[in-house]
Amino acid sequence: MSGKLKIGVLASGGGTNLQAIIDRCLDGSLPVEIVLVLSNNPGAGALERAARAGLPTCCIDHREFDNREDFDRAVVAALQSAGVELVVLAGFMRLITDIFLQAYPGRIMNIHPALLPAFPGLHVQKKALEYGARFAGCTVHFVDSGVDTGPIILQAVVPVLQDDTEESLSRRILEQEHRIYPRAIELFAQGRLRIDGRRVIIDPPLPPEESALVNPPLEG
Ligand code: GAR
Repeated sequence: MSGKLKIGVLASGGGTNLQAIIDRCLDGSLPVEIVLVLSNNPGAGALERAARAGLPTCCIDHREFDNREDFDRAVVAALQSAGVELVVLAGFMRLITDIFLQAYPGRIMNIHPALLPAFPGLHVQKKALEYGARFAGCTVHFVDSGVDTGPIILQAVVPVLQDDTEESLSRRILEQEHRIYPRAIELFAQGRLRIDGRRVIIDPPLPPEESALVNPPLEG
């Protein structure tokens, strides 16, 4: 027994966020144990990445279930039998039900490729670009019963460049996702996160970033 926090990572797609978490576990800088990588998609690259790293995997295809509740019951059963203590949604493209939330209250995290509460939902990098936002970014938050509405743990701000495409902006946001998601998990594992209403309290607090970002810059 390692005594480390046991996490389960849920992913539907390529799994680069999963990979960032695996890499931080392998280099010893993230003291958690990935006890299960679960996908709803049999073709998910995340499952391949997990298998390559020698991690336990499980695929539960949502198309084999009549409703979201039954799918979530199967997912929760798999997580519980693996001993998962913190659920990490990393590009998991399914809405979760109260069944799931009640099994892991305050113990489900998600990463979203926008600066919430702006741009919840899907295709959000494109929406930020089309809106003309000067800043985009990503958010790690606890999951509640809404869509991308839960208490925010960490955010990274990414300036939108004049010649950005959806692809270029998404790539720069993803780089920041890979930095902040392992950090949020680390803070949880250290017992430093407490949910207080809508706010997440970090204890002891981290030194704040006090300087404002302006995009485009005022000079030049
Ligand atoms: C990431 O950009 C993540 O923020 C997003 O899916 C991508 C998964 O990439 N999640 C959502 O949009 C959730 N609403 P990955 O499979 O390479 O980690």
